[in-house]
Amino acid sequence: MSDPFIAGGVAVITGGASGIGRAAARRAAAAGMAIALVDVNGEKLAATAAELRASIGAKLLDLSIDVADAAAMQTLATQVLDRFGAPTLLMNNAAAFVAGGAGGILDPVENWQRLFGVNVLGIVNGVQAFLPAMLAAGRPAAIVNTGSKQGLTNPPGNPAYNTSKAAVNAYSQNLARDLRERPGSQVSAHLLIPGWTTTGEAEHRQGAWRPEQVIDFMAEAMGREAFFILCPDDETPAATDHKRIYWNAMDIILGRPALSRWHPDYKDAFAAFMQRDLPL
Ligand SMILES: NC(=O)c1ccc[n+]([C@@H]2O[C@H](COP(=O)([O-])OP(=O)(O)OC[C@H]3O[C@@H](n4cnc5c(N)ncnc54)[C@H](O)[C@@H]3O)[C@@H](O)[C@H]2O)c1
Repeated sequence: MSDPFIAGGVAVITGGASGIGRAAARRAAAAGMAIALVDVNGEKLAATAAELRASIGAKLLDLSIDVADAAAMQTLATQVLDRFGAPTLLMNNAAAFVAGGAGGILDPVENWQRLFGVNVLGIVNGVQAFLPAMLAAGRPAAIVNTGSKQGLTNPPGNPAYNTSKAAVNAYSQNLARDLRERPGSQVSAHLLIPGWTTTGEAEHRQGAWRPEQVIDFMAEAMGREAFFILCPDDETPAATDHKRIYWNAMDIILGRPALSRWHPDYKDAFAAFMQRDLPL
């Protein structure tokens, strides 16, 4: 599917009350889509829903749901299908960040379970709930899963979040391949990889992108039918991301220590590598 924001389409957006999800919902509303807006934060959801309802009225369904709750996501799908029909855009965008603990390897297992429940299984729940109807509808549709550069380059400091986003990458690639090979499927899958983006109501800082920029970039990339939607920001250009990803992959091929980018013995080699052009 190319342009995800089409008049007459149906968007389901999780984590839709804030940040990137809210920017997607605003753009979907402007395009004339029906929207199912899902968020676990009832207060933020009410505010965003009120804003959207002013422009699209009854074409908005807002529901306070935890994406980690598989049964609730199935109930959501029934409601959306009854009211609007199958989604043309499913954005599995909700994510939890670290809550409690030091954000380290020995974080309480409950933190790991929560991050995986939301960030990974929340996406699986969305796909399981909506994909059968999206396939059966027999019209072009797209699933966008929000990953993170932290799932690709794995910077130290937040292993549970990194590991969950690495799983989103692996899962989304499998989903895309399945949909590509599935006879008659008109559903595509995409991995949205935002750069540094101003979240929620946080003050916008120089270097970050605004959520609207991420959604503009996503729409343009989907117009090219890209699977990987690797967003730059005003601090990190695409070439820098490419080199960091390349270095990370080369750790395996060259047998370097894990995360050698942050190993003191490789500090100078990494700095020199970042000055060179990629051997592509
Ligand atoms: N902001 C960044 O710099 C950045 C960078 C890379 C990736 N991301 C990813 O982008 C996505 C959106 O992040 P954002 O920056 O817009 O954050 P945000 O905090 O502005 O919005 C996230 C929304 O998800 C909701 N949410 C959280 N857990 C939920 C759950 N269990 N069920 C339903 N809703 C839930 C929150 O209430 C919130 O409204 C996330 O997947 C995040 O991991 C963000």
